[in-house]
Amino acid sequence: MKALIAAGGRSTRMRPITHTINKHLIPLANRPMLEYPIRKLVEAGITDIVLNVNPGEADVMRSVFGDGEKYGAKLTYVEQQGGALGIAHAVANAEPYLRGDSFVFFLGDNVMVGSIKKMKERFEAEHFNCMLALSRVKDPNRFGVAEFNADGTLKRAVEKPKDPPSPYAITGIYFFDQQYFDAFKTMKPSPRGEYEITDMISWYIANGRVGYEEITGWWKDTGTPDALLEGNALMLDEMKGVTVAPTASVDAECRIQGNVEIGEGSVIGANVLIRGPVTIGENCHIEHAYIGPYSSLGNGVTLKNGEIEHSIVMEGARIDCGKRIVDSIIGKNAVISAVADTLPRGHKLIAGDSSKIEL
Ligand code: G1P
Repeated sequence: MKALIAAGGRSTRMRPITHTINKHLIPLANRPMLEYPIRKLVEAGITDIVLNVNPGEADVMRSVFGDGEKYGAKLTYVEQQGGALGIAHAVANAEPYLRGDSFVFFLGDNVMVGSIKKMKERFEAEHFNCMLALSRVKDPNRFGVAEFNADGTLKRAVEKPKDPPSPYAITGIYFFDQQYFDAFKTMKPSPRGEYEITDMISWYIANGRVGYEEITGWWKDTGTPDALLEGNALMLDEMKGVTVAPTASVDAECRIQGNVEIGEGSVIGANVLIRGPVTIGENCHIEHAYIGPYSSLGNGVTLKNGEIEHSIVMEGARIDCGKRIVDSIIGKNAVISAVADTLPRGHKLIAGDSSKIEL
C-alpha cells in the first residue's frame, strides 16, 4: 500500500511564520511537523510515500526530508498542478503515482499519538472501500463531520457544518481504494470553490463500504497558532527522562525538573531552572532564565534574563528582555530585547506582516 501526504497550502492562519516557510516545516518538539506523519506511516509498514507540495517547493522540501532513507521510507515529491482546488483535488493530482493499489491519504498537519496500524489491518481484512479515523471533538463545526444512521453505520460526511450532526470529526487520515480516481471525475467544487474530501467520502458511503475507527488518544489538526502550540506540547509529552548531549555543558547549579533534552554544544550557564517537558536544540546559550513546561528551543537560540513557557522558539532567535513570555511562536532569528535606556521610551517593534503581538 502507498501513501500520499498533503504538504501544500498557504496556511494564512499561521502568518507571519508561513510567509517564509511552509507550515509543514514548522518544528514541533524540534522536528519538522511532516516528520510525524512520515514516521506514523512507516511504523504501520507503509514506506512508499508521495508528498503533495506547492508548485516550486519540491526542492526545499527535498532538502529537509531527502529521499526518505533516514525514515526507512521512499519519498516522491509531486508539485500540485492546476491551482489550489482543495484537498480532494490534491489526491486526484497524484493519480499517476498512486495507481494500482489502495492508499492512505494523510493530511500533513494532523498530529496524533497512537498508531494507524489497526486501521490499516481492518481496511485490508474487512475489504472496505474507504476507512476513516474519527475523533470526538468539542468544536466539530471546524472539521468534516460524520453523520450516522440509527444503527451506527455512516450516513454521510459534511464539511464544516454550522449545525454538526454529531460530535465526530473526520480526521485527516483516510484509506481509499482505486475507485477514488474515477469517482473524483464526477465531483464538482463546493460553494467555496474547492473539491471537498467529505464529498468523496459521501460518495464512498453511497457506493461502497466505509469503515471507521475512533481515535481515542490525542489527535490535533495544527492549523492555528493555538493548535500548533498544543501539537508541540503533545509531542513533547512523548519525551522520557533527561538527555544531555555529550558536548553540551550544564552549570552545576542548574535545576532540571521533568523530561528535558539538551542538544550538542549547548551551554546552560548560571541561574537557570528548566522544568520539562522541554527540548533545547544544538548550540543554544541559556543563562539567568526559566524555561517552563512545553517549550521547544531550536538550534542556536539564546535566552538570557527572561522566562519562557509553552512556546516554540525557532532557530537563531535571541531573547534577552527580562520578561516572561508564554504561549508564543517566535520565528527564526527574531530578536526580543529589553527596552533600551534611550528616548523616546516605549516598545519598539519591527513586526512582520500579519504579526500578532500582545503587550
Ligand atoms: C480538512 C478537511 C476536513 C478535516 C480536516 C482535518 O480541513 O477538509 O474535512 O476534518 O482537514 O484536519 P482543513 O483543516 O483543511 O480546513
